[in-house]
Amino acid sequence: MEKAVRRIGVFTSGGDAPGMNAAIRAVARTCQHMGIECVGIRRGYHGLINGDFTKLDFESVSDLSRRGGTMLYSARSEEFKTPAGQERAVATCKMLGLDALIGIGGDGTFQGLLRLAERGLSVVGIPGTIDNDIACSSYTIGYDTACNTALESIDKLRDTMQSHERCSVVEVMGHRAGHLALNVGVACGATAVIVPEHPVDIENDLLEPIRRARLGGRTHFMVIVAEGVEGGAYAVGKVIEDATALDTRVTVLGHIQRGGSPSSRDRITATYMGFEAVRLLAEGKTCRVVALQGENYVDYDITEALQMSKSLDQHTYEVMRALTGVQ
Ligand code: F6P
Repeated sequence: MEKAVRRIGVFTSGGDAPGMNAAIRAVARTCQHMGIECVGIRRGYHGLINGDFTKLDFESVSDLSRRGGTMLYSARSEEFKTPAGQERAVATCKMLGLDALIGIGGDGTFQGLLRLAERGLSVVGIPGTIDNDIACSSYTIGYDTACNTALESIDKLRDTMQSHERCSVVEVMGHRAGHLALNVGVACGATAVIVPEHPVDIENDLLEPIRRARLGGRTHFMVIVAEGVEGGAYAVGKVIEDATALDTRVTVLGHIQRGGSPSSRDRITATYMGFEAVRLLAEGKTCRVVALQGENYVDYDITEALQMSKSLDQHTYEVMRALTGVQ
């Protein structure tokens, strides 16, 4: 007979992302709807080890979807990486009577869930990261808002770059991946975009587009660099200044990209994913990651999901090259 799930713990872990709160709300309310108790674990795996929790019910998650950050706080725990830490986390789950856990985060969060599943807990992961670098899902919660936040800042930078006839080099987050930088670059109409997935031909991919724009009459330039590129935006800025004598300014957008009220896409995706996560556990499934493939919400075995790899969208990369005039 299927083991009924009576109490589910939910937590957020790793870098926060806009929309995590909407996912928490969806988990808590779906639990309530299905007659399951919901416990929020604060501060990710750190809180799981230390029994740091708060009860979540229908009312305690109201007015949450529009809020950035995560009401459950987030953390990265070194202790949880040790077998002793994992045992302590399991002990907390036993003490709180948790039948199952939902972790919202990235690959590191899913690795942790796998360790807990190996110790007998039922677990489901929800992809939440602005980096959009979870291989099994075409979309991760927070990505759209982060793109929009970066664009807003870049539009403002453009104004002052135009006034001073400068070259702006903007570093966009994304950890080791260039998804965020590439999309932001396409959306802002960048002069050039540099991502870690493709080796850069300085002359062809960076300097020539700037020269061509200058010859076309442009006097200000926007170069987008993913943080995963070696040396980051400062290295790229120096190359430009040395080679072109353009007055160049580097801006690292940094954590501003992780904040703000989530976009409708992030609120909606997070809500569906939260609902799906509870549904899977209620159906007796475990060790799954909720994912989006096209228009469809699907789920994968965590081990399988962690073995998958995600490459930069080739079509978007080609569009970027076409629109920046790179041969
Ligand atoms: O994974 C999300 C992310 O914001 C990455 O883009 C970035 O590399 C990293 O987290 C920054 O982490 P921290 O919060 O530790 O500065």
